[in-house]
Amino acid sequence: MTSDFLHLVQICLLTLGSGCYFCKKITGMRIDILTVVPELLESPFNHSIIKRGRDKGLVEIHVHNIRDFSEDKHRRTDDYAFSGGAGMVMTIQPIESAINFLKLQRDYDEVIYTSPDGIQLTQKVSNKMSLLNNIIILCGHYKGIDQRIREHLVTMEISIGDYVLTGGELAAAVIVDSVVRLVPGVLSDETSALTDSFQDNLLSPPVYTRPADYNGWKVPEILLSGNDKKINEWQEQQAYERTKRLRPDLLKD
Ligand code: ADE
Repeated sequence: MTSDFLHLVQICLLTLGSGCYFCKKITGMRIDILTVVPELLESPFNHSIIKRGRDKGLVEIHVHNIRDFSEDKHRRTDDYAFSGGAGMVMTIQPIESAINFLKLQRDYDEVIYTSPDGIQLTQKVSNKMSLLNNIIILCGHYKGIDQRIREHLVTMEISIGDYVLTGGELAAAVIVDSVVRLVPGVLSDETSALTDSFQDNLLSPPVYTRPADYNGWKVPEILLSGNDKKINEWQEQQAYERTKRLRPDLLKD
């Protein structure tokens, strides 16, 4: 059995109720985010589906200002790079203190650093992360963090794509969004997470709503037929054709 298949089994089991082993393993997921710009993360987790997950107590998201852990009298968290050149480097002390403060309170499965150097965030990575209990996400800024933090404290580095952002906060928001929506109960219809684009390496089929005819723009006839079997077949065929046309690389995996 592949780990991907196991993951799907786990998500399926989670849809059956809240008493099973896997449910216990992943409910109450806690995410601690370390940043020097907490303001950037005020909005993304306070609306819509992520807010619902938090309100239901299915996920806890805590944003910490790294400056609060600085022992510098000006609360500085960065310094010049030994190599010279433009750009400041985030220092070890405030980050280590913040991580130690959290680790004293609970065990963490991963300390994740958001970086363009990291493994690329994919649906598979998000699936796996959704099974973790407690994670720390460290957002980089300026020229980056002192390499020794990566060697001694960080356990995983994640990139959200081959481009450079001004800081890791938006990457952290993307990672959290993609993971939290997989936590059982966060989406109202849990199976909808299983039919997302990429869950089976296919893009989603197109969707339509009323009216069936908008000034001559018509919904495909099959969707009005009421024949579930035929509709499913049509959706599968559409998903495959769209993937072949728009993302043929997905079909090679
Ligand atoms: N920080 C800066 N750029 C990033 C990226 N592409 N992914 C994750 N973190 C980043």
